[in-house]
Amino acid sequence: MTDSTHTPTGSTYTDAARDHLWMHFTRHSTFEPTGSGGGGQHVPVIVRGDGHRIWDVNGKEYIDGLAGLFVNQIGHGRTEIAEAMAKQAGELAFFPLWSFAHPRAIELAERLAGEAPGDLDRVFFTTGGGEAVETAWKLAKQYFKLTGKPTKHKVISRSVAYHGTPQGALSITGIPAAKEMFEPLVPGAFKVPNTNIYRAPEELRDDDKAFGRWAADRIGEAIEFEGPDTVAAVFLEPVQNSGGCFPPPPGYFERVREICDEYDVLLVSDETICAFGRIGSMFACDDFGYQPDIITTAKGITSGYAPLGLMIASDRLFEPFRKGQTLFPHGYTWGGHPVSCAAAMANLDVFEREGLNDHVKENAGLFRAALDTLSDLPIVGDVRGAGFFYGIELVKDKETRETFDDAECERLLRGYLSPALFEAGIYCRADDRGDPVIQLAPPLTIGPAEFDDIASRLRSVLQDAGRHL
Ligand SMILES: Cc1ncc(COP(=O)(O)O)c(C=O)c1O
Repeated sequence: MTDSTHTPTGSTYTDAARDHLWMHFTRHSTFEPTGSGGGGQHVPVIVRGDGHRIWDVNGKEYIDGLAGLFVNQIGHGRTEIAEAMAKQAGELAFFPLWSFAHPRAIELAERLAGEAPGDLDRVFFTTGGGEAVETAWKLAKQYFKLTGKPTKHKVISRSVAYHGTPQGALSITGIPAAKEMFEPLVPGAFKVPNTNIYRAPEELRDDDKAFGRWAADRIGEAIEFEGPDTVAAVFLEPVQNSGGCFPPPPGYFERVREICDEYDVLLVSDETICAFGRIGSMFACDDFGYQPDIITTAKGITSGYAPLGLMIASDRLFEPFRKGQTLFPHGYTWGGHPVSCAAAMANLDVFEREGLNDHVKENAGLFRAALDTLSDLPIVGDVRGAGFFYGIELVKDKETRETFDDAECERLLRGYLSPALFEAGIYCRADDRGDPVIQLAPPLTIGPAEFDDIASRLRSVLQDAGRHL
């Protein structure tokens, strides 16, 4: 007998999760008994979702303020996506894209090529964002080998940026703590400053154009330092997630594009989070008006109903692969899985029918305004982001922008904020991969009533935060 709180063997879900499930990026001691030195907390088990709401195993309701993990754009519980997936599983559950094709991958590739800007016409499917990033780096290396510039292999990305966990993608990632246990990683990945204007050099903080120019020029400088003949690609998110939602300053991507053209370096727009309406367009490079050579993405393509990632490459990059015996010796068994592609097609149908991108564009300002109301709290240093994607940076001293030390972060984020936010019925992220932030990226279906609800729940938790240092 099973019920909603017990596994088939009769243990509670929370206990069985603690004893058998290896959770990702999770400090498991949090859930060990206090007697053995653990934190004694229960593993939060989410059992159901509907729209922007989720329920835990005890029946408690939460706002899904993070769309799962920046994934669920159209909201939970859409039976039409489940039906499209079931139909596909009944028709053709699986076939690989290794020298063969199947209708859903073909239709989806054609649809995405139609949506992607410029000559980004060639779609390579993976199962997630990290694999897409890995794929893009490998393509960049091979492309230059095939076109007479075989020494171009290095990549540049930004500090604190997260680009995934495969070892190449992890090299591109700019978070030392996520990498140190796995060093040595793939060599040849170099970092430049990100676009966090709140933490910019003081003389640039009040001039976003000058800051944008400065930050973009650091990429040119890194290419010069490494040698232009050795650099293959630059990996940038349209709005950098890790660190807490850094939008590009005005002119930033225009200048980056110029630099990439000058040195024949590929511009990879890592839109694992930012594509599919998160900022308001299908692809966020369109929101910021730049033309990349490659887009990598995942997450929102299926709104999480099935795993799927992809790289879209320009015609120029595919050209050498049209000829002779050349092939890209790379692939994944599950890449472009028929059921995932069916989910993606049905998901994109919802986008079109419900005008979700326009909804984001029309409501982004209201969402931001609701979060801006928190700026009067002493702990709120900065509210930033774009579309339905925001970060709230927390500070110890608003005047000086002083941040918290490690011990304070530990008490504030893990000791207080994470459990308190959950208790207040909002699932979102309290993170300190850079300076401490709260991040919000809800399903794209929500509107003003939910913006106010989210802001008031955050206020109820943040106004008490000072007492928990
Ligand atoms: C910008 C970016 N790139 C890559 C990844 C890795 O994606 P995945 O977890 O699907 O491998 C992420 C994940 O959040 C991401 O935000």
